[in-house]
Amino acid sequence: MSVKNAMTADFLRSAYGGESMAHMRYLVWAEAAEKDGFPNIARLFRAVSHAEWVHAKNHFKVLKEQVGDNTVPAGAVFGLTNIVENLQGAINGELHEIDQMYPVYLETARFQGEKDAEKSFHYAVEAEKHHADLFQKAQGLAKENKDMENNPFYVCPICGFTVEGEPPEKCPICGVKKELFQEF
Ligand SMILES: [Fe+2]
Ligand SMILES: [Fe+2]
Repeated sequence: MSVKNAMTADFLRSAYGGESMAHMRYLVWAEAAEKDGFPNIARLFRAVSHAEWVHAKNHFKVLKEQVGDNTVPAGAVFGLTNIVENLQGAINGELHEIDQMYPVYLETARFQGEKDAEKSFHYAVEAEKHHADLFQKAQGLAKENKDMENNPFYVCPICGFTVEGEPPEKCPICGVKKELFQEF
């Protein structure tokens, strides 16, 4: 995996920064959800946090030949209030990635013929759509002061696809077999 063009490299670094912060933010919100009596929503945050780590790692690996220091501008959501607002932050972050950030990064990678970056962005944006849906479901319940059900969450180790209940035979985004999915 590698990248040659400066613009795609900048977008990979920014996406790496954004995913890294999302990974951390979801762990903070998981701890808060646990403390507030929503252990299943806490597990959702942990599962999705792991998926964001997969995305950050994928972007980092595409950049492996870009050795050196960089100051990385990247979007991040801030706030630690109540579970409904924390989930709104999660939804906003995911929707920003789905509607604004990744479509632009993806088109740039395509335009510049950066196949590895294109794949990494594609995996991330497709997985984020499922994250947004899961957080919306969680928020609907949290608004009624209810937790999610005690179902397991599964995360694809290749693309970060996240699903509640049962993993599919093959990942719908990257095709990896279900035995490799990680349970939360
Ligand atoms: Fe996500
Ligand atoms: Fe996958």
